[in-house]
Amino acid sequence: MLDKPDVIVAMVEKLAQNLKVPVTVKIRCLPTEEQTLDLAKRIQAAGASWLCVHGRCKEHNKDKVGSANLAIIKKIKETLTIPVFANGGVSTFSDVEHALKEAGVDGVMSSESILENPALFANKMYDLDDLALEYFEMCEKYPGEHNFSHVKSHMFKILYQGLCKHTDLRTQLGQAKSMEAMRDVAVEMKKRRSEDSMEDKFGWYYRHWKSGGVSKEAKTQSHQPWDEQCATDPVFEVKPKKKKNKKNK
Ligand SMILES: Cc1cc2nc3c(=O)[nH]c(=O)nc-3n(C[C@H](O)[C@H](O)[C@H](O)COP(=O)(O)O)c2cc1C
Repeated sequence: MLDKPDVIVAMVEKLAQNLKVPVTVKIRCLPTEEQTLDLAKRIQAAGASWLCVHGRCKEHNKDKVGSANLAIIKKIKETLTIPVFANGGVSTFSDVEHALKEAGVDGVMSSESILENPALFANKMYDLDDLALEYFEMCEKYPGEHNFSHVKSHMFKILYQGLCKHTDLRTQLGQAKSMEAMRDVAVEMKKRRSEDSMEDKFGWYYRHWKSGGVSKEAKTQSHQPWDEQCATDPVFEVKPKKKKNKKNK
């Protein structure tokens, strides 16, 4: 919908005028700073209560993903009067602190990374194998709050780095038909990785990063390495998509 700012603004307006609950909005960046700031201002004028900005354009996906652009989020925060949240590239608690400080925002949101490390906001590093086992304990304690395929999907992310190495366990997890069978995989993984450092167990979040991976230190101790392109140029250089030539297909 980012291609149709008028539709976004009309929707926010309609919702804000007719709902009793606050209307909150989340956007990605547009190709230029001017367009992005303009959209943010229009969303505020339309009645949004707060705005979350994912500091990447829609083109920054898969192998084009990298750190988010906090500079543009900072400008939006300085321009708007409603609370502004930063999103994108937050995978350690240090990233949270960095985003709060650099962009001066009211809050930080994380998405993919928290699927691998549910303790991201705890400001303490936990062993992913321990978290996996604690997750099963919680599933037992709170039946009905989860379903089998969601748990399996989380396990593939939490144990990702280990499953890349221990491919027999990856097969075992894929074929697991019960919570017990999945838990067996987590128990075995903990055993096999007893010598591995906590840092070495992280990796799923960075699987597509264009930098080709992130250093061990950056994964856990400091905020993500700042992407030069994002740091120096608040406006992304988005190349226009090539038109597909149907005849040649
Ligand atoms: C499972 C999943 C579902 C998502 N659903 C939405 C969505 O419905 N709307 C949206 O704006 N972004 C959605 N996102 C994108 C995230 O909110 C977030 O903006 C993006 O992943 C970048 O943040 P991150 O680097 O912390 O992952 C989703 C992401 C994931 C992993």
